[in-house]
Amino acid sequence: MSNNENIVWHPHHVDKQERTVLKNQKPCILWFTGLSGSGKSTIANAVESELLKLQKHTYLLDGDNIRMGLNHDLGFSDQDRVENIRRIGEVAKLFVDSGTIVLSAFISPFISDRQQVRNLVKADEFIEIFVDTPLEICESRDPKGLYKKARNGDIQNFTGISSPYEAPKNAEIVIKNDSMSVEKATEKIINYLKDKGYLNA
Ligand code: ADX
Repeated sequence: MSNNENIVWHPHHVDKQERTVLKNQKPCILWFTGLSGSGKSTIANAVESELLKLQKHTYLLDGDNIRMGLNHDLGFSDQDRVENIRRIGEVAKLFVDSGTIVLSAFISPFISDRQQVRNLVKADEFIEIFVDTPLEICESRDPKGLYKKARNGDIQNFTGISSPYEAPKNAEIVIKNDSMSVEKATEKIINYLKDKGYLNA
């Protein structure tokens, strides 16, 4: 950790409330968590498309993409995953401050890391969405051929095979992706946002 003693927070002229009213929505983080191949990105993309139709302001942070830029220096050791989620949490927090609805799709395998991101924002600004697809199904889909490589020992520390995944105990939304279509999952999430008043300022 760096030494922060000579850094002073600079207040902005335009505040979160003003940005939120302009966008006519309540900013929040839709935090998708689940195994690789569980459908996090697919559902997050579908939800973002629906929100766009409703003229909502969104931004999608996606595991593979962030690892090509901001987090290109991180691998898949426990320590690197912790740092991956810490940085993404801070970025998501900035987007929330901008008044945006953030969608994040990361395995984020550790309960404590997800809790830390939850702690960064207000209680109702973090919505955990557990994409609960069994390992066998993720492995049979294997869209990137990574499970096969992990089973062969060509990839180390692969989540679900040689690295743990800690399922959420109290996620706000659970999607059983093996028995629910992407359309139904999207509808469930959009209805949650509507019912809880996120789609109006
Ligand atoms: S996290 O565990 O740190 O949250 P993140 O969501 O950023 O992971 O990245 C996961 C993606 O990286 C997977 O969908 C997969 O495509 C790829 N990947 C490459 N190696 C691994 C690995 N060892 N474990 C899990 N995913 C991996």
